[in-house]
Amino acid sequence: MAKVLVLYAHPRPDRSEINQPLFETAKGVQGVTAVDLYAEYPDFDIRVDVEQERLRNHDIIIFQHPFYWYSAPSIMKEWQDLVLEHGFAYGLHGKALVGKSFINVTTAGAKPEAYSADGLNHSDIRSLLAPFEKTADLCGMRFLAPFIMFGAGRALEENRLNVHRNAYDDLLKAMVADRFDLEKAAKAKQISDVLDDFILKGEAV
Ligand SMILES: Cc1cc2nc3c(=O)[nH]c(=O)nc-3n(C[C@H](O)[C@H](O)[C@H](O)COP(=O)(O)O)c2cc1C
Repeated sequence: MAKVLVLYAHPRPDRSEINQPLFETAKGVQGVTAVDLYAEYPDFDIRVDVEQERLRNHDIIIFQHPFYWYSAPSIMKEWQDLVLEHGFAYGLHGKALVGKSFINVTTAGAKPEAYSADGLNHSDIRSLLAPFEKTADLCGMRFLAPFIMFGAGRALEENRLNVHRNAYDDLLKAMVADRFDLEKAAKAKQISDVLDDFILKGEAV
């Protein structure tokens, strides 16, 4: 069994149509620790020791957030700057995160075609998340391709909310049960609601 930590950031959860329901899904999965960073730290007064202990106690670290200005809401940057200390996350004696896995679970306003070489952004999402990937690399964590939900602003009117919630539920349960193919996910460009390719069918690893 893997221990999964969801660190969730949304600065306006009252206006969130998709991340807040997804976070409710995460809270309901056994084996998942679900933390709402803005609720816990409204003044950005992040307790570094608490956050480092959480990291020590989990195998898979999830950043769940809307895609904001090609990145994450600001508390996640503050969290990284304070929590990923030298001697803890990196440096000669900073080995606390080595061997863990990291993944962004992200909703984007734009459609999938906007995130391609020929599209509006001339880039896929994994490439745009390079700062997260390089940070995970430096800390010795395995960076998994982001789990992305595009067209987030139209999820409700297109009746997609339950599709995304079910896929997130499947993802989290597979991770907890060691049935999520971490190696394959590390090599992929992105992961979407179609998870079948990433679920290990035989014996759990
Ligand atoms: C400040 C801000 C920045 C945003 N930047 C992007 C962006 O860079 N790319 C994108 O596809 N969508 C962007 N969006 C759209 C959000 O990703 C989208 O509204 C969000 O994923 C919807 O989730 P929610 O209903 O949980 O808020 C942005 C929205 C806001 C408010």
